[in-house]
Amino acid sequence: MEAIFEKYSLKKPESLIPLLQEIQEANGYLTDEIVEKVSVHLNIPTNRIYGVATFYDQFRFKRRGIFHIRVCRGTSCYLCSSSSYLKEIEKLLKVQDGSVTRDKKFSLETVNCMGGCSQSPVIRINDTYYHHLSVSDLGEIIRTLREKSE
Ligand code: FES
Repeated sequence: MEAIFEKYSLKKPESLIPLLQEIQEANGYLTDEIVEKVSVHLNIPTNRIYGVATFYDQFRFKRRGIFHIRVCRGTSCYLCSSSSYLKEIEKLLKVQDGSVTRDKKFSLETVNCMGGCSQSPVIRINDTYYHHLSVSDLGEIIRTLREKSE
């Protein structure tokens, strides 16, 4: 992290977002300790940093798995039974919404509309979108990803 701080040695307040982005990229997520260090480095109060970091969706304060699964709970997806996908994933991975599996391979998050309502229900795993899956497809997808990560 020191190398990242060195890149922003001019300590300009406008460096806050790119600095947080780089730290998150390196660490996977932000922590209270990181926010404290950024606060000292840029001389910005921690409450302002939390304000910025919680405003933008791109920042997270929880560890993610190697495969981050997003299940859309927007209206269109909800009407197309996205909750059954969520239940199946929770059952298959033994993980709850907002948490990560013990082996750190999968994390699960429910989100609002992902912009693909015409293809509801939508699931996103890392950068790949899945549309019109059947609930029974989920087991195979998860099995394949698990094998990839071994
Ligand atoms: S409601 Fe799910 S993509 Fe729009």
